[in-house]
Amino acid sequence: MRTIMVMNAKGGCGKSTIATSLATYYANEDMSVALADYDPQCSSLDWLAVRPADRPAIDGLPAFRSGLRGLKRDTDVLIIDAPARVHDSELKELLKRAETVLVPVLPSPIDMRAAAHFINEVQATSQYENKEVRLGLVGNRVKGNTNIADELEEFLRKIRMPYVGSLRETQNYNRAQARGLGIFEMPPYLAYQDWEMWDPVMKWLNSVRSLPQG
Ligand SMILES: Nc1ncnc2c1ncn2[C@@H]1O[C@H](COP(=O)(O)OP(=O)(O)OP(=O)(O)O)[C@@H](O)[C@H]1O
Ligand SMILES: [Mg+2]
Repeated sequence: MRTIMVMNAKGGCGKSTIATSLATYYANEDMSVALADYDPQCSSLDWLAVRPADRPAIDGLPAFRSGLRGLKRDTDVLIIDAPARVHDSELKELLKRAETVLVPVLPSPIDMRAAAHFINEVQATSQYENKEVRLGLVGNRVKGNTNIADELEEFLRKIRMPYVGSLRETQNYNRAQARGLGIFEMPPYLAYQDWEMWDPVMKWLNSVRSLPQG
């Protein structure tokens, strides 16, 4: 089973948006997908509740309450939506659950500084030191041709961790969220630019480069 977590202690950076997008990507690849929501805010489970029945099914797990209980044995891909403000022992516990962690970072000074603290904290864990987990950074809500977008790009490149891609700011994510869909299920004339931005992220996730080396 492939296990991918979306985590950053900073709130509102796009964890649930990215987790639900990933779940739809793999579900549309004919894989058996589970989406574990570790956040009592339940954004991923709320999204699943409005998912149309004619779309590929995704198993929701209320992991904030009961962990991975109920995870089906034949699950191909487990996507984990982590809560905000994860630190210390909770961070270590969550890191045990994932092979790969995507860390979304927004283009703002507050978010970049908070991400730097979070990444330092992750790098100090035994799971990271023992190479039991791989991290990848993703810029999110990036607006082209802005100084802050350039600053985010420079910030992400400087961190000694793979910077796997950037997603643009677009209402497509809100539109998809409202309908229980993922960005990969939006009509191509609306979302083709977003699919292109996801391309390097998915290539990384689907390669050995995102798997732990330990
Ligand atoms: N690329 C994007 N373009 C436009 N809006 C976005 C994008 N990514 C996320 N959003 C919006 O930003 C808000 C926060 O996103 P989301 O809930 O996914 O973040 P989160 O990290 O899961 O938040 P929390 O820490 O509260 O769990 C939502 O309204 C979401 O629709
Ligand atoms: Mg969330």
